[in-house]
Amino acid sequence: MKNLVIIDHPLVKRDLTILRNKKTPSHLFRSVLHRMARLMAYEVSRELKTEKIRVMTPLEKTGGYVIKQPVVLVPILRAGLGLLDGFNEILPDARVGHIGLYRNEKTLHPVDYYFKVPGSIDRALVLVLDPMLATGGSGIAAVASLKERGARDIQFVSLVAAPEGVKKMHKAHPDIRIYACSLDRGLNHRGYILPGLGDAGDRIFGTE
Ligand code: PRP
Ligand code: URA
Repeated sequence: MKNLVIIDHPLVKRDLTILRNKKTPSHLFRSVLHRMARLMAYEVSRELKTEKIRVMTPLEKTGGYVIKQPVVLVPILRAGLGLLDGFNEILPDARVGHIGLYRNEKTLHPVDYYFKVPGSIDRALVLVLDPMLATGGSGIAAVASLKERGARDIQFVSLVAAPEGVKKMHKAHPDIRIYACSLDRGLNHRGYILPGLGDAGDRIFGTE
């Protein structure tokens, strides 16, 4: 799948295994997700554009770099919030938008309830954060709203993706690169990812 980049670092694989385990309690789920987010941010930011600057060390002048491209982080509520702080630690200058969406449990279609993003996202690298890409409905709707607001450089960052969601996203938004820590087997009849990790929002916030 050419729109998909798998982050298969050993530390990420170890942490994803902890998240998959149904016995992992919410407090541990949140802290491991936070740790993973930092590792993922490191990988996802690999191609950020830099600018050369001069810097004075205590001994002499030398060359250095600053990040040139502004970054906007956009978690999809609720579960995307679990990735936000880790990304923001690695990208402290990033601004943050929020998109509120939930899946209707019967139709599996996304229902939107909130949208607030910083102005001038047209020049920024926009990283949409959501641990789960299942049918793809929520991710596709989020990306469409961001494009309507002028975003041009968007990447979708997830933990676990289903082939169905990756294909659907590629069809709807062929310009979007998807990052995931695992491409899982598929979806069950209720639209849950198999083997997956269950309902990410419920596991983060203890609402099962
Ligand atoms: C989950 C998840 C994604 C969506 C993925 O959110 O965080 O946003 O489902 O499914 P899809 O690819 O089939 O659209 P959910 O609707 O459970 O809301 P929540 O994060 O508030 O729990
Ligand atoms: N949303 C989740 O939180 N988990 C899934 O497996 C699918 C959608």
